[in-house]
Amino acid sequence: MASETEHTAGIEDGVRRRDFINIAAVSFAGVGATAVVLPLLNQMNPSADVLALSTTELDISAIQPGQAIKTSWRKQPVFVRNLVAKEIAEAKAVPLGDLRDPETIDQRTKPGKENWLITLGVCTHLGCVPLGAAEGENRGDFGGYFCPCHGSHYDTAARIRKGPAPKNLVVPPYEFTSDTVVTIG
Ligand code: FES
Repeated sequence: MASETEHTAGIEDGVRRRDFINIAAVSFAGVGATAVVLPLLNQMNPSADVLALSTTELDISAIQPGQAIKTSWRKQPVFVRNLVAKEIAEAKAVPLGDLRDPETIDQRTKPGKENWLITLGVCTHLGCVPLGAAEGENRGDFGGYFCPCHGSHYDTAARIRKGPAPKNLVVPPYEFTSDTVVTIG
């Protein structure tokens, strides 16, 4: 039979061991919680270089009326086009009921800047890059963009008008940060 001293020591050891196990469990839970929370916080606060990759800043001052350029945003091609008055008028003249994906040019441009048409250069059929942004390229039957893969024609507001593509070229999120600088993303 254990002496009283040994018995007390046994209890203390037991208590200590249990405390250690509890503390270890709590610490482990704490580490686990931290490991889960940190990636979430990191996702909510992307670092400056991640933000830089996710936005494209563009000086559009050199794009003449009637011209378009290709740039990229998040590794996708983007078309930036400076529409002339005739192209804007053509887009406005189309009844919405004639459109497969009804949107006005005003919905696809910024107020007071309807000459700046900014869209992804990705055909909404199967993802080819349409023609029409570079000098001399085929702009299709409606004067906008033409996808040579399966023959989709987009109009001067980059709306689908003919061919298999189901939707208009996508307008990415963007803002004018000055009269001549656009930030996409
Ligand atoms: S991918 Fe453009 S028409 Fe098919």
